[in-house]
Amino acid sequence: MKILSAQQTREADAQTIREEGIASEELMERAARAFTGWFENKFTPEQPVCIFCGPGNNGGDGLVVARLLHQRLFDVQLYIVNDAQETSPDFQINLKRLPHEVPPHHITSKNGLPAIPEKACVIDALFGTGLSRPVTGLYAEVIDWLNEHSNCTVAIDIPSGLYTDKQTPAEGAIVQADHTVSFELPKLAFFLPQHEQYVGEWHTVSIGLSQAYLSEVKSNFHYVTQKEIQQLIKPRTKFSHKGTYGHALLLCGGYGKIGAAVLAARACLCSGVGLLTVQAPAIGYDVLQTAVPEAMLLPDNNRRHLSSLPKSMEKFNAIGIGPGIGTERMTKTMLGQLLATTDLPLVIDADAINLIASSDKLKAQLPKGKVIFSPHPKEFERLVCKSNNEYERLEELREFCRVYQCHMVLKGSHSAIATPEGDIFFNTTGNAGMATGGTGDVLTGILTALVAQGYTLKEACLLGVYLHGLAGDLAKGTVGEIALIASDVIEHLPKAFLHLRR
Ligand code: ACO
Repeated sequence: MKILSAQQTREADAQTIREEGIASEELMERAARAFTGWFENKFTPEQPVCIFCGPGNNGGDGLVVARLLHQRLFDVQLYIVNDAQETSPDFQINLKRLPHEVPPHHITSKNGLPAIPEKACVIDALFGTGLSRPVTGLYAEVIDWLNEHSNCTVAIDIPSGLYTDKQTPAEGAIVQADHTVSFELPKLAFFLPQHEQYVGEWHTVSIGLSQAYLSEVKSNFHYVTQKEIQQLIKPRTKFSHKGTYGHALLLCGGYGKIGAAVLAARACLCSGVGLLTVQAPAIGYDVLQTAVPEAMLLPDNNRRHLSSLPKSMEKFNAIGIGPGIGTERMTKTMLGQLLATTDLPLVIDADAINLIASSDKLKAQLPKGKVIFSPHPKEFERLVCKSNNEYERLEELREFCRVYQCHMVLKGSHSAIATPEGDIFFNTTGNAGMATGGTGDVLTGILTALVAQGYTLKEACLLGVYLHGLAGDLAKGTVGEIALIASDVIEHLPKAFLHLRR
């Protein structure tokens, strides 16, 4: 699904209004109704509600929500914050429509701030996507004061003060919401880690925006839905055999890190690959043969570190390299040989990324159109550069993938998958329990298995990252977040595949 900019969101509203021949206040009514529906499912009328409205249409949404929640028997207190700005026409229409039981209290200075009941839920309708400058003055005072309260806070469309699609200036105050209910689509800002404290949990509610607009509008930013992922899965055919599903080669493991090879290999096997060969330092031979009996093992000439490639590479369909390999000189030489000689697709992770980051020569050898990188933010920093903020990082990610014609999975809470064409897809599965050693090795195994089976690099990234997060979510359901380890993710991969069955 596409992620729209603030400007495109305005255009979508405007085209919907034109196409349907409705008044803008009608769309506002629809948006408020959708929000109220979500709210009623989450909260009961026993809980008082304090709504804070600003002067624009987001404030107008808040006024309609106040009216609708009152009709549904919620005890609503309504506050209009305004430092003498003109209010929008739709705001004015809906101010007049308020029932007399919901009188608006006007806050024009900090002295007018009310007491918020301990149990009350706060609804933030100060500013939406129309924010055009950092929030300062009275509005900032109200936001800072709201943030000092521990009441559950729900933001309408976007937390007030947060820019939709660009860096919010440091001087601007931003509401710290527990929930953000966004109209139709999530905003780009929701996917960036620096905004977690403001956005909280985000949800979308449909307001029937123009489908014609949504399908035609161009955006480089997307988020991944389960429905889209399900379309990618290739069903197995009755007369297929192990040769049908590809032969993967994993170049993994090092002294003290044979576990990384075990995890990558197990995940690879659980992701549908027909055959798997693992080349690992000789010291890992017994461990790997015992822990992963389904894999074939090529012990490296060196006991402790990878130093050579298999004699023949012809039988393989994809190669995964990196987990646990270390950064020894002999391993770097082996990586150079691989990049210079193979035309197979490569999944490059962990120390293989660090080795490439440390060498312009290796970077220059990267085969175009054949590579998936899967760095965590620190590895990204080494390979690409250190960014000033997360919007800049997204641009640098796109630029790197364009220049090197590669795919990249930048791992994080919403892992960002970048393509050589300049698109970025945010993943929507996974949880904080997966922030533990070894889960990256699991992802390398999954990606390598999918590429070996013939998925395109883009399909492998989208499906693999989604599956990895989904297996993590299913594991969280069994063992919780705190105790979750990488092996739990592997053990839940079969259930994740079943979950995606069409
Ligand atoms: N400090 C003070 N004032 C500010 C600041 C700031 N930092 N930033 C912006 N403003 C002012 C702006 O100047 C603007 O006023 P202006 O229009 O007079 O210039 C106003 O605040 C913008 O306020 P918002 O409520 O953020 O923006 P907008 O009025 O564009 O509404 C919207 C955003 C449409 C409500 C969106 O967040 C939303 O919820 N969309 C869902 C659909 C919906 O309800 N649509 C409304 C009807 S349709 C329509 O508006 C075309």
